[in-house]
Amino acid sequence: MKAVVYNREAKPYRLVLREVEKPFPKDDEVLVSIRAASVNAADYRSMKMGMIPARKIFGADISGVVESAGKNVKLFRPGDEVVGDLSGCGFGGFADFALATEKALVHKPAGLSFEMAAALPMASMTALQALRNKGQIQKGQEVCILGSSGGVGTIAIQLARHFGAVITAVCSTQNVEQSQLLGADRVIDYSKEDFAVGNRKYDLIIAVNGNYSLLKCRKALKADGRYVLVGGALSQIFKAIVIGKPLSLGRKKMLFLAAKTDTNDLRYLLGLASDGIIKPVIEKYFSPETTAEAMKYAAGGHARGKVVIKWNPEA
Ligand SMILES: NC(=O)c1ccc[n+]([C@@H]2O[C@H](COP(=O)([O-])OP(=O)(O)OC[C@H]3O[C@@H](n4cnc5c(N)ncnc54)[C@H](OP(=O)(O)O)[C@@H]3O)[C@@H](O)[C@H]2O)c1
Repeated sequence: MKAVVYNREAKPYRLVLREVEKPFPKDDEVLVSIRAASVNAADYRSMKMGMIPARKIFGADISGVVESAGKNVKLFRPGDEVVGDLSGCGFGGFADFALATEKALVHKPAGLSFEMAAALPMASMTALQALRNKGQIQKGQEVCILGSSGGVGTIAIQLARHFGAVITAVCSTQNVEQSQLLGADRVIDYSKEDFAVGNRKYDLIIAVNGNYSLLKCRKALKADGRYVLVGGALSQIFKAIVIGKPLSLGRKKMLFLAAKTDTNDLRYLLGLASDGIIKPVIEKYFSPETTAEAMKYAAGGHARGKVVIKWNPEA
């Protein structure tokens, strides 16, 4: 089968498309014929940090068709259309076929394309878990999304709107209109204005991208507000882990999200997408031949929504 394989010497971006052995599912594994995959920070950040999957194939978010299943697999049969997040079972999505456990997969709603479905898993589960689990979002709350224009941010706006929040989105000039169209009530262009200046206070700040001072964010919270750090600069993530606890000693909470693959969440999100309540924003499509460029582009940190690789589209 074809796969995009990590190779230190390969250019561009240490990835090369080549023939590899087709994997065979163990008793508790499902073999998925891939139709689409999307790129996540989990792919390019793992690569940058030298955390290479055992089979040297990246790709966590996938959609496809079940090719075969091990004898202990109960939920999936050959021919089922599925969506999944393979980050908990060895990655491997940038290939003709990938192995998954049942815990990584759900059935794809019929009305959702393979590309739309593959754009959802990690970004949407992260946005949901940030807003609902850590953020405890409530109807009518003032919510600020720092970094509203990437994969997680674009879904976070739509979910916050679905939960009935009043949304302030923070992004660069080129993405102001996109954030407005997705449902933000107010958009701040970070190149022109500091979101923390002024009297507006937030019930919830979701820090998806950028590098905003934790103290500034804390100051912008209401008395019992919550700040949830999702991502952004690595230095900011380390700071939040180290000083988040002491900064949370009062009523304000400064929290860090470590999103988890949760098939109930994924099913719920696919349902929202199927009903048109959320819609993944796909900025660019790539092919197996240009997957290295897709990774390089996403790693640049300025993707406007998701980057999707159409894999085997006519199969
Ligand atoms: N905690 C977790 O469990 C978890 C799970 C998934 C992802 N993450 C993290 O979440 C972050 C976002 O992931 P993603 O997939 O959404 O990334 P992404 O799609 O690559 O984000 C790109 C977007 O970030 C925006 N951005 C860049 N610098 C910014 C700044 N200074 N202020 C505001 N926006 C800025 C860019 O907009 P402009 O071009 O307009 O600046 C671009 O639209 C990453 O750091 C990732 O590692 C964490």
